[in-house]
Amino acid sequence: MDKFIIRGGRPLSGTVEVSGAKNASLALMPASLLARGVCRLSNTPALRDVKTMASLLASMGVYLTFNNHTVTIDTTGVHNQDAPYEHVKKMRASIYVLGPLVARYGHARVSLPGGCAWGPRPVDMHIEGIKKLGASIELKGGYILASARRLHGARIHFDVSSVGATGNVLMAAVLAKGTTVIENAAIEPEITSLARYLVSMGARINGAGTSTLEIEGVDELHPADAITIPDRIEAGTFLVAGALTGGNVSVEGVDPGHLTALLAKLEDAGCSLETGASSVTLHAPPELRPIDVTAAIYPGFPTDMQAQWTALMAVAKGTTVVTDTIYFDRFKHVPELIRLGADIEIKDNSAVIRGVAGLTGAKVMSTDLRASASLILAGLVAEGSTEVLRVYHIDRGYETIEVKLRALGADIERVAGEEF
Ligand code: UD1
Repeated sequence: MDKFIIRGGRPLSGTVEVSGAKNASLALMPASLLARGVCRLSNTPALRDVKTMASLLASMGVYLTFNNHTVTIDTTGVHNQDAPYEHVKKMRASIYVLGPLVARYGHARVSLPGGCAWGPRPVDMHIEGIKKLGASIELKGGYILASARRLHGARIHFDVSSVGATGNVLMAAVLAKGTTVIENAAIEPEITSLARYLVSMGARINGAGTSTLEIEGVDELHPADAITIPDRIEAGTFLVAGALTGGNVSVEGVDPGHLTALLAKLEDAGCSLETGASSVTLHAPPELRPIDVTAAIYPGFPTDMQAQWTALMAVAKGTTVVTDTIYFDRFKHVPELIRLGADIEIKDNSAVIRGVAGLTGAKVMSTDLRASASLILAGLVAEGSTEVLRVYHIDRGYETIEVKLRALGADIERVAGEEF
């Protein structure tokens, strides 16, 4: 397992090119199962989670090649419809194969994901939605066994807006017979990009980007190509790094329209921002103001930026409350930030952060992807040396983060291959 050693205290400055969005790729790749032939997805990030999805698809007989961030996906040789526990336990988004498999092949056997570092994270809405489309579903031996001669259209109302359930049911509905309406659908940009990809494959979808999706099922889809949208969370993490270190950071290759909640909060905290068509430049203030955030569904403040915001507010002048309304227990980074000198208390689903004058380096442990990002950010501003252990979590969602940070002037190195 690798670790990062960070010597903090350097203001970051310069430009960073943002990679393609992990959460978009993890939907587009399995969507390719819906057609027979070769799809090409460019701007695919080289991430551990993308590799996990690739090996899951390969285990079904999909032939994939990667070249310069383009993944070519040939579904001609698919010979089984199994998503074994060995893959799903590594990454919950593996559940995305359920909808496409049952829609195109009439059956699927997909391991149930277990809990996750910050809570139970059920998949009941995925299952109920696909059942409503006419699949019979049995849960047996830790697996979802789904079958249907052909799915049919249905009206599906989600009580909670779910990115994964919307994506899964959408991918199933495009090949169902008749009309499906998904109400309270997720409107995250990654779902909109999935809908666009499906339309380019021949699907008939109205309402992409809104909370009501209307899908007219078609008999078959054809392969298509897509360009993966930029990763708004990676972009946001680098902007917070600039703000935290008192620096000047530009992120390029982004869609600022995907970042509105975060950008507004950064301005409230005292940062000045310049926004271009596909770039954002941040100039940090001499002193950060304490700004409360509540993580909520898009276009609200993203839960995937909650841990990074907590690290930022740890050194703001005053007290901040950071609340997560999506994942009530997503605070595993807090005890580690406290080890770096932060003053934070958890009350229900909120972190109450009393800003301190400075953090001090220490050994800290990554517990999940965004928690690791927050620890790296804190290490960048901590006095002395910070070791962030178990950085395989960060490799799930950030492409060579240490290389990108070094290009901005950070002192960070990866120490590989030892047992930490
Ligand atoms: C996706 C993102 C993740 C992000 C999250 C919220 C991917 C691969 N992951 O996760 O990075 O943090 O959106 O923006 O895109 N829920 C249920 N039953 C279900 C499904 C969800 O109760 O069947 C609940 C969840 O527990 C959670 C809420 O719905 O409280 C939203 O979760 P959801 O949007 O489904 O998150 P994911 O798709 O898992």
